[in-house]
Amino acid sequence: MDPPALVIGMSYASSLRALFQLCLLVAGLDLLGVSAFDNTLYDNTAVYWGQNSYGATHSDDSANWQQPISYYCQDDAIDVIPIAFVNTFFGEGGVPEINLANTCNPTNDSYFSGTELLDCSFLASDIEQCQSKGKIVTISLGGAGGGVGFQNDSQAQQLADTIWNVFLGGSSSTRPFGSAVLDGVDLDIEGGSTTGYAAFVTQLRSHFNGANKDYYVSGAPQCVYPDQYLGDALDNAYFDMVYVQFYNNQCGLQNYDDASDWNFGLWDVWARSISPNPNVKVYIGAPASSTAAGTGYQSTSNLSNIATTMRNSFPSFGGVMLWDASQAYQNDRYDLAIKNALVSAGGTGFNYPACSAPAYASGNSYTGNSKVAYNGYIWEAKYWTNSEPAANSNGDWMPISACSGAASSGTTSISSATSTSSAGGSTTTSASSSGNCAGVAAWSSSTAYTGGSEVQYNGHLWTAQYWTEDDVPGGSAGVWTDDGACTSSDVAGRALPTPPPARRVNSRLFRL
Ligand SMILES: *[C@@H]1O[C@H](CO)[C@@H](O)[C@H](O)[C@H]1NC(C)=O
Ligand SMILES: *[C@@H]1O[C@H](CO)[C@@H](O)[C@H](O)[C@H]1NC(C)=O
Ligand SMILES: *[C@@H]1O[C@H](CO)[C@@H](O)[C@H](O)[C@H]1NC(C)=O
Repeated sequence: MDPPALVIGMSYASSLRALFQLCLLVAGLDLLGVSAFDNTLYDNTAVYWGQNSYGATHSDDSANWQQPISYYCQDDAIDVIPIAFVNTFFGEGGVPEINLANTCNPTNDSYFSGTELLDCSFLASDIEQCQSKGKIVTISLGGAGGGVGFQNDSQAQQLADTIWNVFLGGSSSTRPFGSAVLDGVDLDIEGGSTTGYAAFVTQLRSHFNGANKDYYVSGAPQCVYPDQYLGDALDNAYFDMVYVQFYNNQCGLQNYDDASDWNFGLWDVWARSISPNPNVKVYIGAPASSTAAGTGYQSTSNLSNIATTMRNSFPSFGGVMLWDASQAYQNDRYDLAIKNALVSAGGTGFNYPACSAPAYASGNSYTGNSKVAYNGYIWEAKYWTNSEPAANSNGDWMPISACSGAASSGTTSISSATSTSSAGGSTTTSASSSGNCAGVAAWSSSTAYTGGSEVQYNGHLWTAQYWTEDDVPGGSAGVWTDDGACTSSDVAGRALPTPPPARRVNSRLFRL
């Protein structure tokens, strides 16, 4: 392709050169019928490669262990390949170390001298082959077994400089992938300390400025919000996308049906109102087979439905991340099935759902599963509440969809006097007016009550604000709301309590 036919001054020569290079790149990809990675789309897939997860769980099937990276780039199913992992930040000789399982290791390959950094430069052409198909290939730092972490920001900045030189656009005599210039960095930090990651990202981005191609920074937090290790960096540095691990956690895909657990909405609120990059994309991170993680694996039809629903509910949705390529290929091309579902749901455009719930009204109380419209979201009450919807893990409400327009008329709110609670599946008999104790059982210290349950005690009607046992109405725990003196007394039809919500477990996937 010819340079653009523009007459411009000399001072524009370098930007013209950059534009020309960009045109060559785009034209080159076009000639091949390939589209370059586009982070604004809703149908991207990111699939980790490097750890041979299939081999780790199928030791007797070595014929189907992880293949070289280009094997996974032969069609359009995968858009992003994070290479897993840089598992040591400051190794021998002050350089990082990588682990690529069966693909490159000290048995078959060698270290750069004076280091324990593997020379896997035989992969350069493989990686470049993936890039020539419009895919991006990034280097992932961390993993569940990683020896990672910083003592302070200056150490983090030092590693950012090293990563730039060793894997990206800089130069070094110890480049594990030789001439291949990777497209960015992924942070999958699951141990060590929380220090320095924002400084790391910011320093890395200072190298990206003025570079002649696009570079990306992604993070792979656990779904538990905020993330234990990356929370600070996510709030203070510019990420392009996050691959949220919706597995091995209570908030994982296995609990998609439960608004107390499934928290994609919290990540959408983070993306659009807390992240320094309001256009950061949020991917559903999922296991690519039942052996790829402890919990969270879903059939292709389940995950396709979930991804499509999230895509239509939250504007920050970017696609699906899978762990990992070796598992996806052995699981009937799970990656391809999910990619097809994302493409069907539409790669561009977002129509805000209507705010099809009554507006939240301060001062009202709500039973579990009530829905309200508030601050551009539809929220679902996890249990009985009279608090204002707010996006945090311990809040009473979960954002279940972004929305726009007027809230619907009517109300799902209840005053403290009328209750038809179905929180947690319990059936609480309602009392029809304040102080009407008809049909309400006497409080018992040995009964567990869910939020919204009503009891009689000391001649008054009381409502539990949340799950409680052995907290006397009017007592110091303050669990019970006093609804006034009983106007009638009848101890039939007592509430059926249900168990408390399951405790959050934050176990993480062991990936090495
Ligand atoms: C490389 O090393 C691994 C681990 O020692 C071994 O399982 C694998 O067969 C080797 N591959 C080649 C091509 O030599
Ligand atoms: C940062 O930590 C490194 C490693 O412990 C140390 O050598 C260095 O002096 C520290 N720098 C600052 C500015 O605290
Ligand atoms: C699919 O989703 C349903 C409903 O949530 C669930 O009961 C089922 O276990 C899921 N199946 C698989 C294989 O993911």
